[in-house]
Amino acid sequence: MLKKRTFFLLLVSLVPLSFILTQCFNDTPKEDPRGELYAGSASCQKCHSQIYDSYMHTAHFQTSRPASLNTINGSFHKDSNVFEYGNGLKVIMKQRNDSLYQVGYQNGKETEGEKFDIAVGGVKAQTYLYWKGKQLFELPVSYFVALHNWANSPGYNLGRISFDRPILKKCLECHTSYVKELAQEPGFNKASLIYGIDCERCHGPAANHVNYHTAYPDEKKAKYIVTYNSLTRTQKMDACAVCHAGNKDIPQKSGFDFVMGDTLLKDPHAMPESSNPATLDVHVNQNALLASSKCFIMSKMDCGSCHDPHTNQSRNIAMYTQKCLNCHSEAKHNFCKMAAQLGPTINNNCINCHMPQKSSHLIKLEASNGKVNVPYLVRTHHISIYPEETGKILAFIKAQHL
Ligand code: HEC
Ligand code: HEC
Ligand code: HEC
Ligand code: HEC
Ligand code: HEC
Ligand code: HEC
Ligand code: HEC
Repeated sequence: MLKKRTFFLLLVSLVPLSFILTQCFNDTPKEDPRGELYAGSASCQKCHSQIYDSYMHTAHFQTSRPASLNTINGSFHKDSNVFEYGNGLKVIMKQRNDSLYQVGYQNGKETEGEKFDIAVGGVKAQTYLYWKGKQLFELPVSYFVALHNWANSPGYNLGRISFDRPILKKCLECHTSYVKELAQEPGFNKASLIYGIDCERCHGPAANHVNYHTAYPDEKKAKYIVTYNSLTRTQKMDACAVCHAGNKDIPQKSGFDFVMGDTLLKDPHAMPESSNPATLDVHVNQNALLASSKCFIMSKMDCGSCHDPHTNQSRNIAMYTQKCLNCHSEAKHNFCKMAAQLGPTINNNCINCHMPQKSSHLIKLEASNGKVNVPYLVRTHHISIYPEETGKILAFIKAQHL
């Protein structure tokens, strides 16, 4: 009897042990952390080298990276590494041995210092995350490209230095390819994190595709992968909307499980607070803003009409103008009503008049000492007529001709 009980106790004590063991194995994954259906981006290079090499330079691929002197935009040089809050508070960006830190000070006394572990973004703004055990937190100081300097992380008040804003899964669903959330406690399995937005984050699991084409190298027709051209317009739009249609929850599943070809279920009771372009914030709302434009309503346009997801097209105004000219021309009798007045300069830039940059009300960054508040500008996707922007550009053209 006693023996049986000891055996039972032994068994019970083995349960947590085996749990710990599997956790350990999970921490050192041999295959893709998403499971065996995934091949990993590196495996795509062999057959799609051009797309692969070009894709490495995009904001999508670089949206989250291990933080290092190479990936952090801001400077650690001693004349430009301080963010002042005023009232005796400051954060100094410091290199200590091989690591980079944000160190908080109150009246000259060190209060808390945490390591830069992950860099997020870098086109307009960059923010930094650090691991505390298995949890991720945001560091108090970010980098704002328009200021060419460090800035207060968005939404942080200047009254105190805060190292305690946790980063939830939602944030990583848009800015990484995968991370496994822990079931028993708050936090993530660190080893399962896949940085950046990788090929399979958009195209879906592709191990079968890779295996098939490796085995049959003469097959020229794509197998075991979603064909974008065969999708409906809603499916095409939703492939981007999963991350570009606001900070809403996707019904039923995690953003990580959403792949090209899926659709975001539209619950009529949970429609966006507003689809009125005048009240939609420009940040992370490209889908709704575009959908409210005449261009979109009266054509078959989708995000791919202007964007090539594999190429860094940032600030390529001439290329974007060409996309407008694909549909709008004198020959088609739907050209700009201002064409005569503007003359040849019209061909340089349609977008500053019809898709102007607007400041986001959601994101606010503050310069050191709260002195300057530079707006966070995002290009609106409500393509329309903006008399105010037109006025500014006409004045600019006039000044140039004087
Ligand atoms: C062994 C070669 C091989 C590897 C490795 C490979 N592919 Fe392909 N892939 C092909 C071939 C062949 C085609 C069909 C011709 C084409 O479109 O280039 C194709 C087509 C595609 C298409 C277009 C599908 C369509 O019909 O529109 C996508 C998307 C794609 N591959 C994604 C991937 C991804 C993602 C990876 C890495 C996880 C990958 N491929 C790895 C051979 C490969
Ligand atoms: C997994 C989430 C995700 C998906 C899916 C996604 N995006 Fe993005 N996209 C982002 C994030 C995050 C950024 C901001 C990246 C940064 O600057 O760090 C971004 C940035 C962009 C940019 C700006 C690039 C630049 O150079 O500044 C464009 C354009 C864009 N996305 C278009 C698309 C299109 C088109 C699709 C669909 C084919 C798409 N995205 C799908 C998350 C996503
Ligand atoms: C629903 C998807 C989504 C979520 C959730 C989200 N972001 Fe973003 N984020 C984007 C997109 C898309 C952009 C770029 C386009 C824009 O501003 O509309 C962006 C832009 C950024 C940028 C500026 C990137 C650059 O290169 O200039 C930073 C930094 C950033 N996000 C950090 C975060 C952090 C930190 C969180 C979580 C607390 C978060 N985001 C949550 C989608 C998302
Ligand atoms: C942001 C989402 C996104 C990411 C990330 C992405 N793709 Fe694509 N990919 C697309 C879309 C959208 C299309 C359809 C474009 C079209 O046909 O206009 C496409 C088309 C393709 C095609 C077929 C068309 C062609 O140009 O040959 C291949 C192959 C492909 N992708 C491979 C890859 C590989 C490899 C990677 C990673 C290095 C990758 N993609 C990353 C969205 C993405
Ligand atoms: C896929 C085709 C397509 C593309 C690409 C396209 N448009 Fe349009 N656009 C249309 C159609 C169709 C209409 C509605 C009928 C019309 O005016 O011809 C329209 C309407 C407009 C209007 C009138 C809007 C209003 O509210 O009265 C403007 C302005 C406009 N487009 C500007 C642009 C600009 C700028 C670009 C490039 C950034 C662009 N379009 C790209 C198809 C397109
Ligand atoms: C009619 C052309 C057109 C279409 C269609 C279009 N975009 Fe854009 N998009 C642009 C232009 C132009 C820019 C500005 C590029 C720049 O300044 O580098 C831009 C910029 C962006 C940016 C960066 C915004 C910023 O200011 O940081 C994101 C994100 C983006 N587009 C996503 C999308 C998504 C998602 C879709 C589909 C819902 C889409 N776009 C459809 C023309 C278009
Ligand atoms: C200086 C600002 C400015 C520039 C640059 C500009 N537009 Fe316009 N556009 C306007 C204004 C203002 C209107 C409205 C004029 C009116 O209704 O009298 C307009 C009207 C339009 C319309 C609606 C025509 C209609 O039938 O109602 C289209 C389409 C259009 N523009 C396309 C373009 C394209 C394409 C380009 C680039 C090749 C461009 N615009 C460049 C300011 C501009």
